[in-house]
Amino acid sequence: MSNVYVEDIGNWVGKEVTVRGWLYNMRSSGKLHFLLVRDGTGIVQCVVFKADVPEDMFELCGKLTQESAITVTGTVREDPRSPIGYEIRVRDVQLVHQAMDYPITPKEHGVDFLMDNRHLWLRSSKQHAILRVRAELIRAIREYFDSHGFLLLDAPIFTPAACEGTTNLFETDYFGERAYLTQSGQLYMEAGAMAFGKVYCFGPTFRAEKSKTRRHLTEFWMVEPEVAYFNLDDDMDLAEDFVATIVAQVVERKKKELEVLERDVTKLETVKKPFPRIRYDEALEILHRKGMEVKWGEDFGGDEETLLSEEFDRPVIIHRYPRECKAFYMKTDPENPKVALCVDMIAPEGYGEIIGGGQREDDLNVLEDRIRQHGLPREAFSWYLDLRRYGSVPHAGFGLGIERTVGWICGIHHVRETIPFPRLMGRLTP
Ligand code: 4AD
Ligand code: MG
Repeated sequence: MSNVYVEDIGNWVGKEVTVRGWLYNMRSSGKLHFLLVRDGTGIVQCVVFKADVPEDMFELCGKLTQESAITVTGTVREDPRSPIGYEIRVRDVQLVHQAMDYPITPKEHGVDFLMDNRHLWLRSSKQHAILRVRAELIRAIREYFDSHGFLLLDAPIFTPAACEGTTNLFETDYFGERAYLTQSGQLYMEAGAMAFGKVYCFGPTFRAEKSKTRRHLTEFWMVEPEVAYFNLDDDMDLAEDFVATIVAQVVERKKKELEVLERDVTKLETVKKPFPRIRYDEALEILHRKGMEVKWGEDFGGDEETLLSEEFDRPVIIHRYPRECKAFYMKTDPENPKVALCVDMIAPEGYGEIIGGGQREDDLNVLEDRIRQHGLPREAFSWYLDLRRYGSVPHAGFGLGIERTVGWICGIHHVRETIPFPRLMGRLTP
């Protein structure tokens, strides 16, 4: 007898196997129990006939509680009515652990309750589908950069300086010195690009977001490529090719999961190059036409992003935002000093900004001025300024937020379900 995972069970038709897992659900009649057993890779129906097993074992099956740990041994049979195409006719059931009253029952629960029980909620089919899509997305991202000549370069988590503004920093005590949890690996990737040409980092980033929205986590994962000798156009080309490639790959490889999530994949099949590219000014015109009051100079928030996304059937690339609403490191457009050579990519269907990036300021004096104007401590940036002292070149990059991208691909309204253990304002457990 062999220990087998449910996902491989099709290779074992007619043979005896053991599945080790947990009781997902069951129903019984006088002579028969149907046990739905999950093992993490899938769910298989196991049929226990009274005549096939000792009497006490049959009785034990009737008393099994939801999420009890069991091992089930029996013969695999084809069953066209089962969602996986197979079932097990059981010869033996062993109880490993009888679960106490499992809190998440098949009835509806509120989201706060489910979030409090996130460590258990992970066992449900919908969460499985989302987190498998997440894993596939991360695989596709790594494959993309690894196969396009980018070097994976890990950025530090403890940092001495702010990258994305000082209002949402998490401060920690670093042996008596002030340190911050990183908001972005970008500044380190700029050093990496000057050393290796094309690099990317992929890791957790932190922002003390004090607003409760469906798009903001305090801890989220970001992938950040950075390339030497790239300008804004090169950067937009890369972002476009990257997003089109990874989305197509996830849709192709995770059909089953997207079906579980009832995602309308026709909305993802349109995600092909070229994506529309518009200037901030044009985006502003669209918003005004739609009755939204946004003044020139203001950054877009969630509502603006949603309205803009309604205009397009694929992600829209918006470039050249007003300099004043963007970070200190953005390069000013030589053709218009009021705007920065920056880019955002907004996902369709209201899933918000998934990419932020642009061309970086590469002139030492201009960058020093910007650091001063933004009230940032010069000492903390002296190493960063070195990059403009020793062979400074044009360069650009961007950051893609994993959770918003997973939310978009899965069609999940709130980012809290797109990461195994979300960290939000007001949520630090489990
Ligand atoms: O636009 P952002 O702030 O850009 C940067 O951090 C740049 N330094 C990246 C770079 O150029 N290397 O963030 C990039 C992306 C956003 O577009 C969004 O997808 C995601 O990170 N993001 C968040 N996701 C979840 N929760 C939050 N609080 C997020 N803040 C940003
Ligand atoms: Mg941004």
